[in-house]
Amino acid sequence: MEKSNHISDNIRYVGVDDLTIGLFENQYPVPQGISYNSYIIKDEKTALLDTVDAAFGQEWMARVRAELGDCTPDYLVIHHMEPDHSANIARALAEFPEMTLVASDKAVGMLSQFFEGYDFNGRTIAVKEGDELNLGSHCLTFVAAPMVHWPEVILSYEAKEKVLFSADAFGKFGVPGYEDGWTNEARRYYVNIVGKYGAQTQALLKKVSLKDIEVIAPLHGPVLSGDLSRYISLYDIWSSYRPEQNGVLVAYASVYGGTRECALEFADMLREEGIDNVVTFDLCRQDVSEAVSQAFRLSAMVLAGVTYDASLFPPMATFLHHLKMKNYRNRAVGIIENGSWAPVAGKLMAEAVAALPGIEIINPKVTLKSRMRLSDRPVMEALAKALAVKVKA
Ligand SMILES: Cc1cc2nc3c(=O)[nH]c(=O)nc-3n(C[C@H](O)[C@H](O)[C@H](O)COP(=O)(O)O)c2cc1C
Ligand SMILES: [Fe+2]
Ligand SMILES: [Fe+2]
Repeated sequence: MEKSNHISDNIRYVGVDDLTIGLFENQYPVPQGISYNSYIIKDEKTALLDTVDAAFGQEWMARVRAELGDCTPDYLVIHHMEPDHSANIARALAEFPEMTLVASDKAVGMLSQFFEGYDFNGRTIAVKEGDELNLGSHCLTFVAAPMVHWPEVILSYEAKEKVLFSADAFGKFGVPGYEDGWTNEARRYYVNIVGKYGAQTQALLKKVSLKDIEVIAPLHGPVLSGDLSRYISLYDIWSSYRPEQNGVLVAYASVYGGTRECALEFADMLREEGIDNVVTFDLCRQDVSEAVSQAFRLSAMVLAGVTYDASLFPPMATFLHHLKMKNYRNRAVGIIENGSWAPVAGKLMAEAVAALPGIEIINPKVTLKSRMRLSDRPVMEALAKALAVKVKA
C-alpha cells in the first residue's frame, strides 16, 4: 500500500508513518494515521530536512543512516519547531556532532525551550526570507511563512529540482499511499490546524506563486507532483474563506432525537429545493474537526440546536467555539432551535454566528417546542426555500 515519497535519486524521503497515535495533537482523530516527513538532499554538502515525532526517533535514525551510508549530514534544516517535527533535533546532533542547524531566528530562539541544558552555541545558522543554503548543484532558498502554522515557520525552495519544502502547508491527515483523493483530509488538516491564519496563508501563496514549482514536499502526507494547480487553488479557496462548493451543511445536536428528526427532514426539504450538496452532521456522534471542515467546504450552514440549562447544548456550543477560533466567515446560516419550556438556543446560535464577519442569517428561524409538529412544516419549508435561493444565487 505504501507509495514511495522519494523525490529523486538525490532527494530522498526518510519520514515515518504513525498509525498508532489515534489523536493527532491529542485532539484530531486520524483513522488513517499521519506521517512525519523528513528528507535528505545529497550533494557536495548533505542536508537533512526536519526530524520526526519523539516516538519515532529510532526508526527515523535507522532510515537516515540507511540513506546516508558512510556520509554524514552537514546541515539539519528545521522548517518548523512543533515537536512532531523537532523532537529529535538533540538526538540528531548527538549522532552527527559536526552537523549545523539551519533555521529561522525565531526557531533558533525556541531550541532551548524544548531542549533545556543543551548547548546550541556555534551550532546554528539563522536564516531569513531570501537567504540561500548552497549544497553544490542544489541550493535552498528560504521563504518565511509566519503562522503557517507557528511564528517561526520557514519554507525552502530547491531550484534545481524545483521542489518546495512546504512545512505544514499542503500537509494532510493519513499516511502517504493511502488513496483518499487528498482533498477531504487535506482540508480537515488545513482548516483545523492553520485555518485561523488565512491571511498569512494567502501571503505565503502569493510568494510561492512566483516560483517555478514541480514538486511540493510537505511535512505530513504524500509528496505532491504532476498538476499542482489543483492543490494550490484549493489552498487559495480555503485560506480566503471562500466556499469550495455550493451546498448546505446541516449540523445538529440533539438530546432525545427531536431536533435530529427535524434536521434530517429539513435536509430532505433542501434536496427537494434542488440543492445537490446537502451534508447532515451529528455533532454528538461525529468529530467536530470534520464538521468545521465541512462548514468551510460549503456555502451555507443550518444549525439545529437544543436549549439546555437556559443555554446551548454543549456539543453545539463547542462547534460554534471551533468555528469562531478558525475564523469561519462569509456564509449564509439558517437556525433551527428546540426547547420544551423556554427555548433560547436559536437566539444564542444566531448571536454567536452573527458576531463573525460576513455571516448572513437567513430567515425564518424554526422554533420547535419539544418535537417537530405539522404546524412547524410551513416555517421549515420557508427556510428551505430562502436558503435555496441563496445557495443557487
Ligand atoms: C439537561 C437539560 C436541560 C434543559 N434545559 C432546558 C431549558 O433551559 N429550557 C428549555 O426550554 N428546555 C430545556 N431542556 C429541554 C430540551 O431543550 C427539550 O426537551 C428539547 O426539545 C430537546 O430536543 P431533542 O429531542 O432534540 O433533544 C433541557 C433538557 C435537558 C436534558
Ligand atoms: Fe505544525
Ligand atoms: Fe506538523
